[in-house]
Amino acid sequence: MEYPPFQIWNPVKVVYGVGRIDTLKELGYKKPLVICDPIVTKLGLIEKIKSFFNEMYIFSEIEPNPSCELIDKIVTSYRNQNVDSVIGIGGGSSLDTAKAVSGLLENEGSIVDYLVGGKKFNVRKPLVLIPTTAGTGSEVTNVGVYTYRGLKKPMTSDMFWADMAIVDPELTYSMPVRVTASTGLDAFTHAIEGFWAKSSQPYTEGLALTSLKMIFENLKNSINGDKVARNNMALAATIAGIAFSQTRTTAAHAISFPLTSFYGIEHGIAVALTLPQLVLWTYPHIKSKMDGLLRYLDIDNVETLAEMIEKLMIIANIPTRLRDYGVKEEDIEKIAKISMEANIIKLTPGDITYDDVVGILRKIF
Ligand SMILES: [Fe+2]
Repeated sequence: MEYPPFQIWNPVKVVYGVGRIDTLKELGYKKPLVICDPIVTKLGLIEKIKSFFNEMYIFSEIEPNPSCELIDKIVTSYRNQNVDSVIGIGGGSSLDTAKAVSGLLENEGSIVDYLVGGKKFNVRKPLVLIPTTAGTGSEVTNVGVYTYRGLKKPMTSDMFWADMAIVDPELTYSMPVRVTASTGLDAFTHAIEGFWAKSSQPYTEGLALTSLKMIFENLKNSINGDKVARNNMALAATIAGIAFSQTRTTAAHAISFPLTSFYGIEHGIAVALTLPQLVLWTYPHIKSKMDGLLRYLDIDNVETLAEMIEKLMIIANIPTRLRDYGVKEEDIEKIAKISMEANIIKLTPGDITYDDVVGILRKIF
């Protein structure tokens, strides 16, 4: 096979290792704004970070799937406080919020102007992202996802590449079982979508395969609380993030947006629900490429791969059927319609159609 022309661009400095949160001390920030969720403040982590700075602000009311209103509220509160940097700590919602806030603190207007209005960020505050889950990869991507009028919408910006991602696995040790499982499944989905996306290229394929192997080898033990497995999952999630930062994601993420927006299904579960069927659906379109993946992972055939993904959900007691989450059969067409509106669905190998998505959703109903 021959690859079409491509480029690589990921300017985020990644610092990995247990205890590397201390790197924050060395950055010379005088008055950062720390953005996190209420759980982070309970971990005692904030006390540690406070000791690194003479002055800092903390906004700790981040909720899953941050709304445009919340982001505008934060920016209004801190616009005149001479904040010199933004530090996002937490899951994807905190990190995505930090990206938007770092841009808006240096630019006019509301996040809505940039998310749907076509405005572009040209500058931002210095930005450091520190994940406390092993999954979203947001720390190394230029994507932010924000809820606008009740629906999750992704946006990309060159200003969303952070100056630094600190991947300190110790921060993931207190993750509860369900969060470990759902964010791990998100990482798995990033890796597989970064591998098969039409926009994939040799660099992302290598990153995705490395990440997939690490996730298969470590997710189960990580769910059980094993520290080495959690270290490996933190690393694997970041590697998968770098892969999909170049390719973007595909149908599993496109279909997840209405599933999360309408039924509140956690992101990692929403992407993983369709993945076994999507693996089977895409296989005939990229057979030799997927055979390479199966060989690398030492898996006999694609049906076994689909079963293994489903098993990853089952071991964490995560239901695998849409009806378990309150989805009604008559909603399937609406979910499929909205999934098709996400641009990333066009990156799915095999030109997936509305009817295909309806078929996949019916199979997992
Ligand atoms: Fe994701």
